[in-house]
Amino acid sequence: MGVFFSNLLWRLSRKTETRLLMVGLDAAGKTTVLYKLKLGEVVSTIPTIGFNVETVEYKNLAFNVWDVGGQNLIRGLWRHYYQNAKGLIFVVDSSDHDRIDTAAEELNAMLAEDDLRDVVLLVFANKQDLPKAMPAHELTERLGLHALEGRQWFVQPTCAVQGSGLYEGLDWLSNQLSK
Ligand code: GTP
Ligand code: MG
Repeated sequence: MGVFFSNLLWRLSRKTETRLLMVGLDAAGKTTVLYKLKLGEVVSTIPTIGFNVETVEYKNLAFNVWDVGGQNLIRGLWRHYYQNAKGLIFVVDSSDHDRIDTAAEELNAMLAEDDLRDVVLLVFANKQDLPKAMPAHELTERLGLHALEGRQWFVQPTCAVQGSGLYEGLDWLSNQLSK
Protein backbone atom coordinates (compact mmCIF):
# COMPACT_ATOMS: atom_id res chain seq x y z
CA MET A 1 0.00 0.00 0.00
CA GLY A 2 2.78 2.41 0.97
CA VAL A 3 4.55 1.71 -2.28
CA PHE A 4 1.31 2.19 -4.21
CA PHE A 5 0.72 5.63 -2.68
CA SER A 6 4.27 6.79 -3.07
CA ASN A 7 4.14 5.76 -6.74
CA LEU A 8 0.90 7.63 -7.15
CA LEU A 9 2.25 10.73 -5.44
CA TRP A 10 5.36 10.59 -7.55
CA ARG A 11 3.28 10.39 -10.69
CA LEU A 12 1.03 13.26 -9.65
CA SER A 13 3.91 15.51 -8.71
CA ARG A 14 5.87 14.77 -11.81
CA LYS A 15 5.46 17.40 -14.44
CA THR A 16 4.31 16.05 -17.74
CA GLU A 17 6.83 16.75 -20.41
CA THR A 18 5.42 18.40 -23.47
CA ARG A 19 7.48 18.46 -26.56
CA LEU A 20 7.69 21.74 -28.47
CA LEU A 21 9.45 22.28 -31.74
CA MET A 22 10.90 25.73 -32.36
CA VAL A 23 11.86 26.65 -35.91
CA GLY A 24 12.09 29.70 -38.15
CA LEU A 25 14.56 31.18 -40.61
CA ASP A 26 18.18 31.64 -39.57
CA ALA A 27 18.84 34.61 -37.29
CA ALA A 28 15.17 34.90 -36.30
CA GLY A 29 16.23 34.57 -32.66
CA LYS A 30 15.33 30.98 -31.72
CA THR A 31 18.45 30.16 -29.74
CA THR A 32 18.21 33.52 -28.00
CA VAL A 33 14.62 32.67 -27.01
CA LEU A 34 15.61 29.25 -25.74
CA TYR A 35 18.39 30.40 -23.44
CA LYS A 36 16.51 33.47 -22.25
CA LEU A 37 13.76 31.08 -21.11
CA LYS A 38 16.15 28.49 -19.70
CA LEU A 39 18.74 30.70 -18.03
CA GLY A 40 17.04 34.07 -17.84
CA GLU A 41 19.94 35.61 -19.69
CA VAL A 42 21.04 36.42 -23.20
CA VAL A 43 23.80 34.16 -24.38
CA SER A 44 25.88 35.12 -27.37
CA THR A 45 24.78 32.80 -30.10
CA ILE A 46 26.36 31.39 -33.19
CA PRO A 47 24.19 30.04 -36.03
CA THR A 48 22.83 26.67 -34.98
CA ILE A 49 23.97 23.76 -37.13
CA GLY A 50 21.80 20.96 -35.83
CA PHE A 51 19.74 21.66 -32.74
CA ASN A 52 19.68 22.67 -29.08
CA VAL A 53 17.27 21.08 -26.65
CA GLU A 54 16.40 22.23 -23.13
CA THR A 55 13.65 21.61 -20.64
CA VAL A 56 11.91 24.79 -19.62
CA GLU A 57 9.64 24.52 -16.60
CA TYR A 58 6.66 26.78 -16.56
CA LYS A 59 3.67 26.56 -14.24
CA ASN A 60 2.64 22.90 -14.13
CA LEU A 61 4.32 22.10 -17.40
CA ALA A 62 7.77 21.05 -18.42
CA PHE A 63 8.34 22.10 -21.98
CA ASN A 64 10.93 20.10 -23.79
CA VAL A 65 11.98 22.68 -26.36
CA TRP A 66 13.81 21.67 -29.52
CA ASP A 67 15.49 24.62 -31.25
CA VAL A 68 16.51 23.61 -34.76
CA GLY A 69 18.85 25.67 -36.96
CA GLY A 70 17.18 27.66 -39.73
CA GLN A 71 19.81 28.17 -42.40
CA ASN A 72 18.54 27.50 -45.89
CA LEU A 73 20.61 24.37 -46.47
CA ILE A 74 19.62 22.74 -43.20
CA ARG A 75 15.88 23.54 -43.18
CA GLY A 76 15.37 20.09 -44.72
CA LEU A 77 16.29 18.68 -41.30
CA TRP A 78 13.28 20.21 -39.56
CA ARG A 79 11.07 17.28 -40.49
CA HIS A 80 13.22 14.92 -38.44
CA TYR A 81 11.94 16.68 -35.33
CA TYR A 82 8.20 16.66 -36.10
CA GLN A 83 7.27 13.45 -34.33
CA ASN A 84 5.47 13.79 -31.00
CA ALA A 85 5.65 17.57 -31.05
CA LYS A 86 2.57 19.04 -29.36
CA GLY A 87 3.30 22.62 -30.21
CA LEU A 88 5.17 24.50 -32.87
CA ILE A 89 6.88 27.79 -32.05
CA PHE A 90 7.64 29.64 -35.26
CA VAL A 91 10.04 32.51 -34.66
CA VAL A 92 10.07 35.40 -37.12
CA ASP A 93 12.42 38.36 -37.37
CA SER A 94 9.69 40.99 -37.65
CA SER A 95 12.12 43.51 -39.13
CA ASP A 96 13.14 41.24 -42.01
CA HIS A 97 10.81 42.51 -44.72
CA ASP A 98 12.88 40.85 -47.46
CA ARG A 99 12.40 37.34 -46.14
CA ILE A 100 8.90 37.38 -44.70
CA ASP A 101 7.53 35.63 -47.80
CA THR A 102 10.16 32.91 -47.49
CA ALA A 103 9.21 32.51 -43.83
CA ALA A 104 5.56 32.21 -44.85
CA GLU A 105 6.36 29.53 -47.42
CA GLU A 106 8.40 27.51 -44.94
CA LEU A 107 5.69 27.77 -42.30
CA ASN A 108 2.86 26.79 -44.61
CA ALA A 109 4.83 23.87 -46.05
CA MET A 110 5.35 22.57 -42.52
CA LEU A 111 1.73 22.96 -41.54
CA ALA A 112 0.75 20.80 -44.52
CA GLU A 113 2.73 17.88 -43.06
CA ASP A 114 0.73 15.02 -41.65
CA ASP A 115 2.91 14.68 -38.53
CA LEU A 116 2.07 18.27 -37.60
CA ARG A 117 -1.65 18.23 -38.25
CA ASP A 118 -2.57 18.42 -34.56
CA VAL A 119 0.06 20.84 -33.28
CA VAL A 120 -0.90 24.24 -31.99
CA LEU A 121 0.99 27.13 -33.52
CA LEU A 122 2.59 29.93 -31.58
CA VAL A 123 4.31 32.60 -33.66
CA PHE A 124 6.89 34.73 -31.92
CA ALA A 125 6.90 38.05 -33.79
CA ASN A 126 10.42 38.67 -32.58
CA LYS A 127 12.74 41.71 -32.67
CA GLN A 128 9.92 44.12 -31.94
CA ASP A 129 12.57 46.49 -30.56
CA LEU A 130 13.88 47.19 -34.07
CA PRO A 131 12.57 50.31 -35.79
CA LYS A 132 11.22 48.60 -38.89
CA ALA A 133 9.53 45.74 -37.08
CA MET A 134 6.18 44.73 -38.56
CA PRO A 135 3.41 44.66 -35.99
CA ALA A 136 1.58 41.43 -35.16
CA HIS A 137 -1.41 42.12 -37.40
CA GLU A 138 0.81 42.69 -40.44
CA LEU A 139 2.75 39.48 -39.76
CA THR A 140 -0.51 37.59 -39.36
CA GLU A 141 -1.48 38.78 -42.81
CA ARG A 142 1.89 38.09 -44.43
CA LEU A 143 2.09 34.60 -42.95
CA GLY A 144 -1.41 33.80 -44.20
CA LEU A 145 -2.64 32.71 -40.79
CA HIS A 146 -6.28 33.66 -41.33
CA ALA A 147 -6.46 31.01 -44.05
CA LEU A 148 -5.55 28.20 -41.65
CA GLU A 149 -8.33 25.79 -41.02
CA GLY A 150 -8.76 23.64 -37.95
CA ARG A 151 -5.64 25.00 -36.27
CA GLN A 152 -5.23 26.89 -33.03
CA TRP A 153 -2.74 29.70 -33.58
CA PHE A 154 -1.57 32.85 -31.87
CA VAL A 155 0.89 35.62 -32.70
CA GLN A 156 2.86 36.98 -29.76
CA PRO A 157 5.07 40.06 -30.20
CA THR A 158 8.43 39.48 -28.51
CA CYS A 159 11.83 40.91 -27.94
CA ALA A 160 13.95 37.89 -27.05
CA VAL A 161 16.98 39.90 -25.93
CA GLN A 162 14.87 41.68 -23.33
CA GLY A 163 12.73 38.64 -22.68
CA SER A 164 9.49 40.50 -23.31
CA GLY A 165 6.51 38.51 -24.54
CA LEU A 166 8.11 35.09 -24.10
CA TYR A 167 6.12 34.05 -21.04
CA GLU A 168 2.89 35.43 -22.47
CA GLY A 169 3.48 33.05 -25.38
CA LEU A 170 4.09 30.12 -23.05
CA ASP A 171 0.92 31.04 -21.18
CA TRP A 172 -1.09 30.75 -24.34
CA LEU A 173 0.56 27.41 -25.14
CA SER A 174 -0.04 25.99 -21.70
CA ASN A 175 -3.72 27.02 -21.87
CA GLN A 176 -4.15 25.40 -25.27
CA LEU A 177 -2.31 22.25 -24.33
CA SER A 178 -4.20 21.71 -21.10
CA LYS A 179 -7.55 21.85 -22.88
P1 GTP B 1 19.90 29.98 -36.48
O1 GTP B 1 20.51 29.21 -35.37
O2 GTP B 1 20.91 30.31 -37.56
O3 GTP B 1 18.69 29.33 -37.05
O4 GTP B 1 19.44 31.40 -35.88
P2 GTP B 1 18.55 31.69 -34.55
O5 GTP B 1 17.13 31.80 -34.95
O6 GTP B 1 18.88 30.72 -33.48
O7 GTP B 1 19.02 33.17 -34.14
P3 GTP B 1 19.87 33.63 -32.86
O8 GTP B 1 19.12 33.36 -31.61
O9 GTP B 1 21.24 33.07 -32.97
O10 GTP B 1 19.87 35.22 -33.05
C1 GTP B 1 20.44 35.85 -34.19
C2 GTP B 1 20.79 37.29 -33.84
O11 GTP B 1 19.61 38.04 -33.56
C3 GTP B 1 21.67 37.41 -32.59
O12 GTP B 1 22.62 38.42 -32.82
C4 GTP B 1 20.69 37.83 -31.51
O13 GTP B 1 21.28 38.59 -30.47
C5 GTP B 1 19.72 38.70 -32.31
N1 GTP B 1 18.39 38.78 -31.68
C6 GTP B 1 17.61 37.77 -31.21
N2 GTP B 1 16.45 38.24 -30.72
C7 GTP B 1 16.48 39.57 -30.87
C8 GTP B 1 15.56 40.64 -30.56
O14 GTP B 1 14.44 40.44 -30.02
N3 GTP B 1 15.94 41.92 -30.91
C9 GTP B 1 17.14 42.19 -31.50
N4 GTP B 1 17.43 43.46 -31.77
N5 GTP B 1 18.03 41.21 -31.80
C10 GTP B 1 17.70 39.93 -31.50
MG1 MG C 1 20.11 29.09 -33.41
